[in-house]
Amino acid sequence: MSILEYLSLKPYNTFGVNSTAHFFTRVRTTADIISLIEDHFQYYKKILILGEGSNILLCNDFDGLVIKNEIIGIELIKEDDEHVWIKSMSGTNWHELVIYCVNHNWGGIENLSLIPGTAGAAPMQNIGAYGAEIQDTFVSLEAIDLKTAETLVFNKEACNFGYRQSIFKSTEKNNYFISSITLKLSKHPVVNTAYGDIQKTLGKNGIKNPTIKNVSDAVIEIRESKLPNPHDIGNAGSFFKNPEVEKAVAEKIKKEFPAMPSYDLPDGKVKIPAGWLIEQCGWKGKRLGDTGNHDRQALVIVNYGNATGEEIRQHALAVQNSVQQQFNILLVPEVNIIL
Ligand code: FAD
Ligand code: EPU
Repeated sequence: MSILEYLSLKPYNTFGVNSTAHFFTRVRTTADIISLIEDHFQYYKKILILGEGSNILLCNDFDGLVIKNEIIGIELIKEDDEHVWIKSMSGTNWHELVIYCVNHNWGGIENLSLIPGTAGAAPMQNIGAYGAEIQDTFVSLEAIDLKTAETLVFNKEACNFGYRQSIFKSTEKNNYFISSITLKLSKHPVVNTAYGDIQKTLGKNGIKNPTIKNVSDAVIEIRESKLPNPHDIGNAGSFFKNPEVEKAVAEKIKKEFPAMPSYDLPDGKVKIPAGWLIEQCGWKGKRLGDTGNHDRQALVIVNYGNATGEEIRQHALAVQNSVQQQFNILLVPEVNIIL
């Protein structure tokens, strides 16, 4: 395991920000990460665990050790007549895991097709899209304590999942290296096509009795039409979470903007699309220097080429301020901001 010095992280984050890591290494086995913790951690001021860098904003150079997770592998660990239990090592590409399961006709994660990143980062924020979240199929994960190098198992309850949330993004942030995840998938899948866009796409393609492969294909088609590909324009998907507000707050805004989209939540609150709020403030398609808000999806902040992480952060703050001023709603970043 070699430790490189002064390496540009530009190829390792989907914003394409040119931040330099003082130290950089790759881990390919759990033994690698354990020996790093036991023998080397004391020498570094700080540590950053990196998957595929699709949900981070690097605002400065990183004056510590960046650990790129390349521990890969997928294994069927248990099955019965109805289900399979699949263990994926954390550095496996998430979409490859989805396609592997779809090809075996194991259902449950097909709606999460084409989400960038690693399997190990997926529980971090309980990734979700098109009517599904990883928590729906999640059984447990193994995580290595970054102080003691001890391996612990966290079941679903212990992860305390919420909307784009888990203990690993809140109370336990930066305390663990997630080394594997285990999911329980169905051998007799029932497709989830409740999301309007999926129904529309299946209808357009003339598919009447969709399989999980059809749903996966539809999700891929929708995502490719809506979201900018980071290979073409730097971005990290939705920059902010969709805010959940009291019903009275949503009703007040709806009086002025009757066309505002909104979703009632089981706890009585209302979810308002942050992209809609940002668009109302005039940011959609707006470009300032090399940063801006995407012209098809205002919630996606983009790097047109050479924006720095700090410029992107300042842009996000300006967007956040204008939504706060116009709607009195504080948008909370979804992206992990590394200062
Ligand atoms: P990274 O960006 O490398 O890391 C994210 C955070 O997790 C960092 O804080 C990092 O330190 C930590 N971390 C990473 N790996 C580990 C580990 N093994 N152990 C402990 N901590 C770790 N997200 C959704 O939920 N739904 C979407 O629909 C969606 N669409 C997207 C579309 C685009 C175009 C892009 C660019 C992003 C999108 N995202 C979406 C966000 C992103 O894909 C997910 O958050 C993904 O899980 C990040 O994985 P990663 O490996 O790139 O994590
Ligand atoms: N909208 C606008 N203007 C915009 C963008 C959106 O008015 O510029 C409106 C749309 O018309 C629609 C609503 O907002 O009525 C929702 O838009 P969309 O379906 O594009 O979804 P989203 O709420 O913006 C969320 C997730 C995505 C996920 C999709 C599909 C969050 C923060 N984002 O986006 O996740 O892929 O739904 O389920 O919850 C991510 O987390 O990075 C991400 C991309």
